[in-house]
Amino acid sequence: MTRDSEGIKATQYAAITGWGSCMPPAVLSNNDLSTFLDTSDEWIITRTGMKERRISHVSATEMATLAAKRALACAGLNPTDLDLVIYGGVSNEELCPNSASGVQFSLGASNAASMDLNTACTSFCYGLAAATAMIQAGQVRNAVVIGVELISRYMDWTNRNVAVLFGDGAAAVVLEATDQEEGLLASVLGCDAEARHTLRVRGFGCSYSGYGITLGDTFWDFDGQQIFKRAVLGMSRASSEVLNRSALTADDISLVIPHQANLRIIESVAKHTGIPMERVMLTVEKYGNMSAATVPVALVEALSEGRIEPNSWILMPAFGGGLTYCSLLVKWGDRVTPLGESPDELPPCTESALELVNRVRGNQDPHGRSKDGLLSPTFPEMRS
Ligand code: UT7
Repeated sequence: MTRDSEGIKATQYAAITGWGSCMPPAVLSNNDLSTFLDTSDEWIITRTGMKERRISHVSATEMATLAAKRALACAGLNPTDLDLVIYGGVSNEELCPNSASGVQFSLGASNAASMDLNTACTSFCYGLAAATAMIQAGQVRNAVVIGVELISRYMDWTNRNVAVLFGDGAAAVVLEATDQEEGLLASVLGCDAEARHTLRVRGFGCSYSGYGITLGDTFWDFDGQQIFKRAVLGMSRASSEVLNRSALTADDISLVIPHQANLRIIESVAKHTGIPMERVMLTVEKYGNMSAATVPVALVEALSEGRIEPNSWILMPAFGGGLTYCSLLVKWGDRVTPLGESPDELPPCTESALELVNRVRGNQDPHGRSKDGLLSPTFPEMRS
């Protein structure tokens, strides 16, 4: 659909026409983690399937902006043609102004609406569902949906239960109205709120203001085993339900692109859903859990590796804090190659991942609390 004198109309479908990621180059290995935590390469690999993860030297906005620029170039769309920016994730520079407006400004997407969407690790998937519905309703003609996280900055690096699991990264897709039957065709979204206490990052938000807790004072409540069980249940049930609703079977799915929190969780969900691991996209080994960024980054990698066939069915199960869960059924379109490429790159990274982490650690006391408070100089270049 194009912008014409009749304005924007309701449409049936929202095609994914662009995709792009932004992976920071600095790699933090399991052995790097064991230099300051009581952990080992062997424990992390056998319990999680993770070997390394990325640590960003730039802000979440910069990662999100570059991913969005690449997705727009891939779709052949100018930033000024964009109607909506959705910033999905938990990593906000500030709550006000929102992060999406920062990305919109950096993109020069002067005609867009901009909103943040936080359902933790499922934020990109919920964003895809929300943007698709807004395009179908005729509210916008197109959207860029971003999944981005910069967890290394608010990780409690003294806590081995969580510090080994997460990494930074970003990816984005462009959605455009179409009459072709493609894009997100069915979704099951849910929230196991009874277990919301099992994954909680303390320190952000109104509950903490006025209590002398400042930037960097994050403590993680994390019950890994509970989350594990509920994640498998939520993603498996949602996947079966979305297939049932669409009268499809596991055999119709060409590729599963799941949230990448733990290889064992992914294997369990694949088994419950009846899909062999050969048809599951994995990035957990090299990127760890990037929360909202995991599904879109894996999608972009699947496309660049030629693992997505034109007109094929893709299943995207995910879960995250809340405990939100979902499974999305996407019908890919004809095109699996980009229309164009963005010339932009991240600025060079002059520090190792371990040096970047040690900068954050250097500002945390043995309990993970910041030593210097709100204006600590850990990353002064981020405060502009
Ligand atoms: O995307 C949403 C966030 N992701 C998740 O919530 C992930 C869900 N949960 C999981 O992936 C798994 O539960 C974990 C990977 C977090 C933990 O695996 P597990 O097999 O459930 O291990 P566990 O929690 O039962 O811990 C086993 C042992 C414990 O020691 P004891 O009590 O048996 O002596 C832990 O203290 O492993 C110990 N442990 C570690 N050891 C070395 C916990 N973390 C570490 C570590 N290195 N990093």
